[in-house]
Amino acid sequence: MNEAGFRTVESSQVILKELMVPSYANFGGKVHGGVILSLMDKIAYTCAATHAKGYCVTASVDSVDFVNPVEVGELLTLYASVNYVGKSSMEVGIKVVSEDFKNGIVKHTNTSYFTMVALDEETRKPVAVPGLILESEEEIRRFVMGKLRKKLRRAHQQEIADIRQALSVGQEMAELKGENCQLARG
Ligand SMILES: CC(C)(COP(=O)(O)OP(=O)(O)OC[C@H]1O[C@@H](n2cnc3c(N)ncnc32)[C@H](O)[C@@H]1OP(=O)(O)O)[C@@H](O)C(=O)NCCC(=O)NCCS
Repeated sequence: MNEAGFRTVESSQVILKELMVPSYANFGGKVHGGVILSLMDKIAYTCAATHAKGYCVTASVDSVDFVNPVEVGELLTLYASVNYVGKSSMEVGIKVVSEDFKNGIVKHTNTSYFTMVALDEETRKPVAVPGLILESEEEIRRFVMGKLRKKLRRAHQQEIADIRQALSVGQEMAELKGENCQLARG
């Protein structure tokens, strides 16, 4: 058994609501993606630190695909939940939706996964986090998917590192053919 104990998923779930004010807009009048990313990082920290009952850092963020733009005046709601825990890491799943008050339409903005790692505040080394008590089929499904994503993340990082190591610019010149680039003369 994990010496840090076990906690339910529900005990660290967080909901964050924020009104999209005009100062959040980009030049096109929509909300900056960076504003949403910052809120996602904030809720990921809150959720992970609540589960770990201590200091955490963001180790990685999976791809963030904005499927719908967010308008100024809409209410953004972020839902965060710990999907999976390893020894010191936690995968926090975050769902973001935006609501237009005038017509009540709710749009899905994006879903993403943050990996947060619990650290000892003095040594700054990773520390064990409590395990998860899984109370429903949905929580079991999320845990299994989180475990799979962790494995895929590691494999992907290793693959990129191997490709980079083996890369020879001379051999890659052929890859430039047909790409949107040109070699500077001189
Ligand atoms: C994240 C960090 C603590 C990992 O440290 P490390 O010495 O590599 O730790 P370990 O190799 O022992 O890994 C610890 C855990 O983190 C996970 N981890 C490490 N790097 C990771 C990454 N890039 N993505 C996802 N998980 C990662 C490991 O899988 C491991 O999980 P587990 O304990 O549940 O099995 C370290 O890289 C760090 O401090 N990074 C900076 C984080 C930060 O400052 N974030 C804010 C940016 S402004």
